[in-house]
Amino acid sequence: MSKLHFTLTTAFFILLAGMAHAQEVKVEQAKFSAGDNAAWLKPDFNDSPWQTLRLDKEWDLQGVKLYNNFAWYRLHVVIPSALKDKRTGQIALHIGPVDDCDETYFNGHLVGKTGTTPEDPEGYQGYWQKERRYLADASWVRWDKDNVIAVRVYNADGEGGFYKRAAYIEKPMLADYVSLAVSGESGQAKAVLSSTHKSSGKLTATVRDGETGKVLQTRHWNVKLDKKKSFTATIPVEGPSRVVFTYEDPGFGETLEKNFCNPYILTPAAPAKPRYNGPLVFGVRPGSPVIFRLAFSGEKPMKYSVEGLPEGVDLDEENGVLSGKVLKEGDYPLVLKASNTKGMAQQAFTLKVGPKIALTPPMGWNSWNCWGTSVSQQKVMTSAAALINRGLADYGYSYINIDDAWEAPERAADGSILTNEKFPDMKALGDWLHSKGLRLGIYSSPGDRTCGGYIGSIDHEEQDAKTWNDWGVDYLKYDWCGYNKVFVASEDHSTAAYLRPYVKMQQYLREQPRDIFYSLCQYGMARVWEWGAFIDANSWRTTGDINDTWESLYSIGFEQQAGLHPYAGPGHWNDPDMLVVGKVGWSDELWDSRLTPDEQYTHISLWSLLAANMLIGCPLDQMDDFTFNLLCNNEVNAVNQDILGRQAHQDVVEDGIQIWSRDLYDGGKAVGIFNLNDAAMPTLLKGALEKIGIEAKIARDLWRQKDIPTDAIYSIPSHGVLYVKVK
Ligand code: GLA
Repeated sequence: MSKLHFTLTTAFFILLAGMAHAQEVKVEQAKFSAGDNAAWLKPDFNDSPWQTLRLDKEWDLQGVKLYNNFAWYRLHVVIPSALKDKRTGQIALHIGPVDDCDETYFNGHLVGKTGTTPEDPEGYQGYWQKERRYLADASWVRWDKDNVIAVRVYNADGEGGFYKRAAYIEKPMLADYVSLAVSGESGQAKAVLSSTHKSSGKLTATVRDGETGKVLQTRHWNVKLDKKKSFTATIPVEGPSRVVFTYEDPGFGETLEKNFCNPYILTPAAPAKPRYNGPLVFGVRPGSPVIFRLAFSGEKPMKYSVEGLPEGVDLDEENGVLSGKVLKEGDYPLVLKASNTKGMAQQAFTLKVGPKIALTPPMGWNSWNCWGTSVSQQKVMTSAAALINRGLADYGYSYINIDDAWEAPERAADGSILTNEKFPDMKALGDWLHSKGLRLGIYSSPGDRTCGGYIGSIDHEEQDAKTWNDWGVDYLKYDWCGYNKVFVASEDHSTAAYLRPYVKMQQYLREQPRDIFYSLCQYGMARVWEWGAFIDANSWRTTGDINDTWESLYSIGFEQQAGLHPYAGPGHWNDPDMLVVGKVGWSDELWDSRLTPDEQYTHISLWSLLAANMLIGCPLDQMDDFTFNLLCNNEVNAVNQDILGRQAHQDVVEDGIQIWSRDLYDGGKAVGIFNLNDAAMPTLLKGALEKIGIEAKIARDLWRQKDIPTDAIYSIPSHGVLYVKVK
C-alpha cells in the first residue's frame, strides 16, 4: 500500500519505538536485490555482488525506481556477547517499519511476518507504517561474529522497502513480553496484564481528578504472571477522572505505564416518547427520487404520519420512510409526526424541490477510517443495519458511503467499471439501503488509479456516472490521487487545471436522473473552497487525511479551518475529513480512538460548529455508549444541521484558549470555548462571552442540555470544550 495511506501502529509499538536503549547495535544499511529467491534467506548466501541501500529511505529514492513486487534486504550485523540476556534467552530485532509487507529470517530462522502478499491465501494486506520488532532465540546468534537478518519484502504500490530509520539489535524489554491493556466500562477502569514470559511485580493505579489533577485514590496489587496466567484489576472512576496504571517488574528493572481517561457521558438519555432530531429542510431536484427517513428517537414501534405531502411522495408509516418524486419546483411545508405508546411529537419541515441539494451538511457513515481497504459489502451492511438498530438513523445519519477498495482490477469488455469479489451485488445494496430511507455513497478517482491503487475513472467518466446511477448511488467522493500524474505531465498548473477533472465528472453526474452528492477530495489544493461551489460541488476536503491523534485534530480542526467560514453554506460545505471517534484502524485491526474523551468532545463540538460533513468512521455495530453519546446529542447536532448554514469563525485565540462561534437561524449563537492547554482552565463564562460581544445571563450547555448561569466559573478540561448556545 502506498504511503498516502494512513495505517497506524499499535500503541505498543509506538511505545517501543520511542524507547532509547543503553545497549544496542545499530544497522544503517543492507544488501539489496529485487526479485525473489528462497536461497536468499540462508545466512551463508553470498550477497557481496548485491547493491547496498540505506535503511532510512525507500528503495525508489535510491535508484530502484517504481519497483512494485518482491525484493530482499540482507542486514549484516556483529552481535556482541554483551547483549546476551540470561533472563529471557532471547534477542530483540527492532527492524522498524517496512513498506509494506515483510517476512523476516534471522540466521535462516523465520522470526516474524507482517502483512500478507497476493501469494497468501487471504490475499494482499499491507502494513507499511507498522513497526516490526521480532524476538529471536539466543541459541541462533553467532556471538561476536557476522549474523544475517534476511527480510523478504513485498511492495504493492507507491514507494517500497525500509524507509524510516536504522534497525536495532538489543536485549529484550519488559514490553516485549508483558502487555498492559486498559479500558473502562460502567464506572470502572480496568487493567489487564498478560505475559508470554514469567514476570512478577507491582501494579499501581493512581486516580486523579481530571480537572484539578488532585490524587483521589491510589491502589497497589502484587502480581505474578506467566504464559497461562494473566491478571485483571479494576478501580471505580467517576466523571472526567484519569487513572494512571503502572506495572513494575524489578527483575527487568523496567516499568510499563498506561493512562485511562474515563469516557464520561454528558448527553442525557433520550425520552421514551417521540422526539424529532433531524434537519428542518430537505432539498431534492424535480423528478429525482426522494429518499428521506424521519428522524424521531423514542421507544419503538412508532407510527409515522406526514401532513402536506405533495403528489408523488409516499410515506411508509411503519418505518417513517418517504419515497417518490416531485416534478414541480417549490417549497412544500410539511408537518412530520410520530407517535408511540408514550406520546407523540410533531415537527414543521420544508421539502424544497429545486436546483439545490445538501441544504444541511451530510450525516452518515464511511468505511475508510475503520476498514480501509479491507471493506466488504457484508461489513457495509452490518454498519448500515446498526445505523438503524442502534438508533443513529433517529438522529439524521443517512448516508452509507463505501470508500476505496470496492473496485475490480479490470473493467468489463465494454469498459464498464466492476465491483470486486467483496461486493457481490452493488445494486441490491443500493435498493436495500433505499428501502430503509438510507442512501448509498461510493468512491473513485479522476486518475487511472485511486489512492489505494484501485481502478480510477479517467476516460470513463460518463460511463461510470451511468453505472453508479444504475446502482442507485447518491454520493460520490472523487479523490484526486492518480490524477496527479496527468497534472504533473501537463504544462498547465493554473487553478483551471485543478478544476478540470472535477468539472468533467460533475457534468455527467448532473445528467443522471437522481441527486448525487458531489464530494471533492483533493486535500484543499488551489484553495478549493474558493471555487468548489462554482463547479457545483456539495463539499470539498480542505486538508489531508485525519487520524486519531491530538496533533492531527489540532492541525486540521483549529489551524486549517480558520478563515474558511465565508465559503460554506446550504448546498456546499467545507469538509475537514471524517470523524475519528469509536473504533478506527484503516484495516482489519481496529483500536479505540486514541483521542481522550475530552478531545473527542472537542472534535464533535468543532465539527458541529464548522457545519462539517458528519461521516462516522467506526463500525457501528461495535459502538460503545460513550461514542453514541458523542454522535447522538440532538442539541449539538442541531447546530451542525442549522438551516442558515453559517460555518463558525475563529473569534479568539488567546493563552491557549480559542473561541469559535456561529449564528443560528433562530437568532441564537453557538459558541465553543476550547482549552488547548495541557492543564484544565477555570473560565468565567460571562468573561469569555463578553470577548465576542455577547451579554447573556444564562447560556445553554449543549452537551449537558441544561441552562447554566454565565456568572460562574467553569473548569474546561485540558483539550476539552465548554460548548454553549446563547440567545
Ligand atoms: C485518500 C483519501 C482518504 C481515503 C483514501 C482511500 O487518502 O484522502 O480519505 O479515501 O484515499 O484510498
